[in-house]
Amino acid sequence: MSSPETSPAPIFPHRHLIGIEGLSPQDITALLDLADTYVEQNRRIDKKGAVLRGRTQINLFFEASTRTQSSFELAGKRLGADVMNMSVGTSSVKKGETLIDTAVTLNAMHPDMIVVRHQNSGAVELLSQKVSCSVVNAGDGAHEHPTQALLDALTIRRRKGKLQGLRVAICGDILHSRVARSNILLLHTMGARVRVIGPPTLMPTGIERFGVEIFHDMKKGLEDCDIVMMLRLQLERMAGSYVPSQREYFRYYGLDYDKLAAAKPDALVMHPGPMNRGVEIDSAVADDIHRSLIREQVEMGVAVRMAVLDALARNLPNDPSIAETAK
Ligand code: NCD
Repeated sequence: MSSPETSPAPIFPHRHLIGIEGLSPQDITALLDLADTYVEQNRRIDKKGAVLRGRTQINLFFEASTRTQSSFELAGKRLGADVMNMSVGTSSVKKGETLIDTAVTLNAMHPDMIVVRHQNSGAVELLSQKVSCSVVNAGDGAHEHPTQALLDALTIRRRKGKLQGLRVAICGDILHSRVARSNILLLHTMGARVRVIGPPTLMPTGIERFGVEIFHDMKKGLEDCDIVMMLRLQLERMAGSYVPSQREYFRYYGLDYDKLAAAKPDALVMHPGPMNRGVEIDSAVADDIHRSLIREQVEMGVAVRMAVLDALARNLPNDPSIAETAK
């Protein structure tokens, strides 16, 4: 196996990225600083680097995804890795054993990284225990989505110059959202203050234990906020009726200019996508080039994922004999 010509210094003392939980402010800052350099690389005509040359990355997606999967694919390719996409239809997946079987099978092909999205919380961590490569969580159930929180942090840091001391409102379907969970953990670790706003039916029980301020009224909750982070109403995860109707949801919780006026005059709007326009966010607000960071978030996504893959690869053994004994 060929190895990268130079071995850049390790910056991230973890073998996998399963969640934001357990990361230090230094870990997060190191990834964001590295991601900043990749933003520049991605704006050049020649976007290709070689830090992952010779490495194999498998994207294993048990759940539908457009932006996250394509973002990880581009990230790996721009670093010079061989990237293979495996989308597993949920219908053909039997829980538990099949996941482990898949992991063991893929592991036998000697990948260096596996990027996993799975509909069950905890599935990615379980998989990481069965393989000898690095594993990146691309979203597991309602648990964590660490690269989304990192790309959101990068987007905010580049616009506001810091994370420390900012007041961030996370609004809408908190209950089903791994994005909310990872963002709360990251923002707290970096010294930001977090509010959650949404109907009581879409708040997880015990949310107060996360140290957030809880609001059920959008205008009250948005007061003094620097960042307004909207979440998708996750209709596919809703078994019962959590909201009376999408029209009524928009009236009370959809972000329009009237509600946005309650936040700071320079407050910026974010959304992880995909958006339900007219349900959680007004189309005009989403497309507002002065207030909305939604397109920038997608750009930052590729850079952050390059930083994560690069940082994890720096910890992988370069010598095949070492790799063998590590298994
Ligand atoms: C998020 C996800 O999958 O958790 N989307 C994404 O990663 N682009 C949020 C969502 O699905 O609403």
